[in-house]
Amino acid sequence: MTAKQKIFWLRLVTLVGLCLPALELGWRWATGALEPRPVTLATHATGDWAVIFLLLSLAMTPARALFDWTPLVHVRRRIGVAAALYALAHLLIYVLDQKWNLLVVATEILRRFYLTIGFVALVALLLLAITSTDGWQKRLKRGWKRLHWLVYPAAFLALIHFFIQSKVKIGEPAFAAGLFAWLMLWRALPVRLQKSFAGLALLAVGATAATVAFEATWYWLVNGIDPARVLAANLDPDLAFRPAQKVLIAALMIAAAVGLRRLALAANRLWTRRYIQSTISSP
Ligand code: HEM
Repeated sequence: MTAKQKIFWLRLVTLVGLCLPALELGWRWATGALEPRPVTLATHATGDWAVIFLLLSLAMTPARALFDWTPLVHVRRRIGVAAALYALAHLLIYVLDQKWNLLVVATEILRRFYLTIGFVALVALLLLAITSTDGWQKRLKRGWKRLHWLVYPAAFLALIHFFIQSKVKIGEPAFAAGLFAWLMLWRALPVRLQKSFAGLALLAVGATAATVAFEATWYWLVNGIDPARVLAANLDPDLAFRPAQKVLIAALMIAAAVGLRRLALAANRLWTRRYIQSTISSP
């Protein structure tokens, strides 16, 4: 397959993957599978997918470097735009829930802190999606990079919004925040460590510790729970999987996938060299 064909297929598979959650949700809504609370379930599903695609778009740069696979750069924008569109659908479903009363929606957004920061995150994501085109990149020149740096505070606000609305069940937002920590820490690593296994080990430890810290701080600030208890829960093998343990597993899986990819590339190089040698040496 030529490089052009590979990019075509990657773009197509990505597009299908980005549309599938919306199609599946639409199908379940239309067939009554979301009853008795279709609007609530749809609000939650679109919010979840917005966060998933936001994290995935942030994962494209490290993935490209770690897996040595340049075509990923061709789908990063698409995934970011999808995150913004799912977040917009999330707002529209919320507006539908308020019977399209925009005054109530605006008042609620101004009154409730978690909705205010969700709104700020959404505006930032939409701004980034609109200006993500080549045309805007040329028009804004150096300012484009500075503007697109907004994705980090937007993701941070979206995660805080996720935490607050989850109230006491913060397993999912804590896991998402741990993955976000991994992505941020990767960017903070010295370049020589970014592609090394030592760097990946540091990231696994750092992201896991950050997740415990998020979880402990949250329970301490919101519920007044002693952080030592959260720490103990993370070390207790009898308790259900904690978000930090999931983050650790995810970080180790990334390291294993990188190892496998490098083995495959090395085997491919060896095979190509042997093939060339055998064709040169054959009469
Ligand atoms: C004006 C903007 C927004 C509004 C009005 C809004 C509103 C809401 C509401 C009403 C909920 C459900 C709360 C509950 O059931 O108690 C929610 C949950 C959520 N929102 Fe938003 N949101 C906004 C922006 C965003 C953005 C930008 C993101 C992500 C990029 C996001 C991600 C989420 C997530 C992940 C959940 C939780 C879903 C779950 O629990 O499964 N929201 N939001």
